[in-house]
Amino acid sequence: MIAQATAEAIERAAERLRSGGVVAFPTETVYGLGANAFDARAVARIFEIKRRPSFDPLIVHVLDDAMLREVVAAVPNAAAALMAHFWPGPLTIVLPKRAAVPGIVTAGLPTVAVRMPQHPVARALLATTGAPLAAPSANVFGRLSPTRAEHVAAMLGKEVDCILDAGAALFGIESTIVGFEPTPTLLRPGAIAAEEIEAIAGPLARPARNAPVSAPGQLARHYAPATPLRVIEPATVPQERRERSAAVGLRERFAGYAAARVLAADGDLRAAAAALFEVLHELDALGLERIDVQPVPERGLGTAIMDRLRRAAR
Ligand code: TXA
Ligand code: MG
Repeated sequence: MIAQATAEAIERAAERLRSGGVVAFPTETVYGLGANAFDARAVARIFEIKRRPSFDPLIVHVLDDAMLREVVAAVPNAAAALMAHFWPGPLTIVLPKRAAVPGIVTAGLPTVAVRMPQHPVARALLATTGAPLAAPSANVFGRLSPTRAEHVAAMLGKEVDCILDAGAALFGIESTIVGFEPTPTLLRPGAIAAEEIEAIAGPLARPARNAPVSAPGQLARHYAPATPLRVIEPATVPQERRERSAAVGLRERFAGYAAARVLAADGDLRAAAAALFEVLHELDALGLERIDVQPVPERGLGTAIMDRLRRAAR
């Protein structure tokens, strides 16, 4: 399962990524668990493998400026200055996302976290795959971030398609994350000291301790549909309460609603997770009175789906 990161192993790993696989790879900070950022189903598998009970927005890794432009819609001057100084390297920047980036990557947020890694194996993998890679740290939920391929193998060896080994990670701590809305803000301290960033960008706001962004997973609360959502078995909803509402079923398209969507016709929870945020955004845009969402089984990715729905419900 562990493969020395030779040119051939990287080529095979890139092949896996192009066909929807999940690959663990070294970066200069920690090992990441990567999937093609444009492939919602492959990204859903990352959450499944990490056994996260909720959807946390992921960092998208890009090779160069051209790949960056496929992912982000705009780059403010302050962000461009930081990129010029620290990229490639362990700095992550949060920017407005392009529509092509699936909602599951950003947990429904309109922004995407991006970074251009400096590790030669991460760069070779990005170049060979030819697509941006969404990659959180390659650990099981609640466990330490892996700084060696062996750490990944011990936690996730059976589930990932390949682990590229390039020895110990240089920094051994995750990237620093900076956002720009509404002002330049240190969202996560990390491998580049805040002072170094402030020397380029000026003073950074620090979210208060316990602020939502400082705790992984809680950030997803920032996105909730504007339309009131409830988790309810649509089959139990009387016809007169369906007419001005939307319904989301796992496999079933419920009749009598103004709009009805199915998350996964075959009931596959990975496919359902991949579709969830897109479906909610789409129905939210219709401006109906309510969205009724059928509960899904709480196993595998169903746990994260239900967590997300309960946060969105009101
Ligand atoms: O060093 C690193 O950054 C490693 C390597 C693999 O690159 N990756 C990593 O990813 O640490 P992860 O998934 O463990 O951390 C992602 C964090 C989220 O918990 C959240 O705090 C922040 O990035 N994040 C992602 N998208 C965001 C967004 N749109 N807005 C604000 N914060 C975001
Ligand atoms: Mg992590």
